Amino acid sequence: MKYQVRVTRTTASRLSRVDFDNLPFGKYFSDHMFVAEYRDGQWQDLRIEPLSEFATHPATMALHYGQAVFEGMKASKSHDGRPMLFRPEMHARRLNFSARRLAMPEFPEDLFVEALHMLVGIDADWIPPKKGSALYIRPFMYATDPYVGVRPSDTYRFVIFTCPVGPYYPKPVSLLAETHYIRAARGGTGEAKAAGNYAAAMLPARLANEKGYDQVLWLDAREFKYIQEVGTMNIFFVIDGKVVTPDPDQEGTILRGITRDSIIHILRDEGYEVEERRISIDEVVAAHDAGKLQEVFGTGTAAVVAHVQKIAYEGKEMILPPVEDRKISPFAKSYIDELRAGLREDKFGWVVPVRLPESIDV
Ligand code: COI
Repeated sequence: MKYQVRVTRTTASRLSRVDFDNLPFGKYFSDHMFVAEYRDGQWQDLRIEPLSEFATHPATMALHYGQAVFEGMKASKSHDGRPMLFRPEMHARRLNFSARRLAMPEFPEDLFVEALHMLVGIDADWIPPKKGSALYIRPFMYATDPYVGVRPSDTYRFVIFTCPVGPYYPKPVSLLAETHYIRAARGGTGEAKAAGNYAAAMLPARLANEKGYDQVLWLDAREFKYIQEVGTMNIFFVIDGKVVTPDPDQEGTILRGITRDSIIHILRDEGYEVEERRISIDEVVAAHDAGKLQEVFGTGTAAVVAHVQKIAYEGKEMILPPVEDRKISPFAKSYIDELRAGLREDKFGWVVPVRLPESIDV
C-alpha cells in the first residue's frame, strides 16, 4: 500500500438539494474533498473528508504573496453510467509545472491521479448526466505558512474539490482585443496556472464587460501585436480552411491547455491542417476583411469549445459567420462530448474509467 488515505464520509449528503437540470457554473459543491498537507519536506495527512471550510491564519502566505496554483478538470458519465476522467496524468504534470514556477513543492503525480479516482468514485452520484454538464474538478495548492516576510513558504496544502456544472459559456462569446493591459510577458508566470494570473486579468475583463464584451483577447506584452489567449481559454482561428492557433513554445506566455492539445490531435487526425505559430491581430483583421476568417473558437476545460461571435480591435468589430455555418468547431465540440460520454472510440486513450483503489477501504 503506497499511500494511506483516511476516508471520512459525510453523514448528511447535500445531493438532493441540487437541481441537476439548472446547474450554474461553480456554485454547487459536492459532498467530499481530498486534502493533503506539506510539512517537514513531505506530503502527509492524506484524507478525504466532508467538504468544509479551513481555518485561516491572517498571515497565511498565499493570501499575501499569491503562492497558489490550480488545475481545472472534468469527470463525466458514459452513456451507460460509468464515471470517467479525462487525461488525468496531463493535469498532474501541469500542476507540477505550475508549482515549480512558483517555487512550490511538487505533488506526487501518482497520488494526484489516485486521489481523483477515490474522490470522484465516492462522489460519483454528483456527476450530472445531462449533455453539456459535467463534474468540474478543482485541484489546487497554496502556501500555508503564517509569515510576513517574502520567501517561499515551508508548508502547503493541496486540495481537490468538485462541483457539478452546466456550460461555462452557454452562448457564443464576444472578445475585445486588449491594447493597454497585458496578461503575461515572456519570463513571467503566463505559462503556469497561477492564481495571480487570473487576479491580474480581472480589471481588464471587467472593463471589457462594461463595454459589452464577454472576455479579453490578450496580445503580446512588447508590441500588442501577437495573439496569446483569452485567459479563460486558448484560442483558435480558421482562416481559409486552415486552423491556426498561437504556439505556447514560441510565445512563452500561454497556458498549455489540455483541451487545446486534445483539439489539435483530433483535428489533425481528421485530416485538417493545424498550424501552431505566431498569429498577429493584423493577420486576423486582414483575413476578416478578405472574407477568409471562417471560424474563431476558444478551448478550455471549463469552456470546452466556445464559439466566438465577434472580436473588437481598435474600434473595429469583426463579426464571425453564424455557428450553423461553421464546420470545424462544432465537429471538435461534439467529438469531445462524445468521447466523454463513451460514444466515440477513444483512439488516443484519453478517457479513464474511475476506479476505487484497492489501497483504501471505502
Ligand atoms: C478551466 O478551464 O478549467 C479554468 O481553469 C478556467 C477558468 C475560467 C474556470
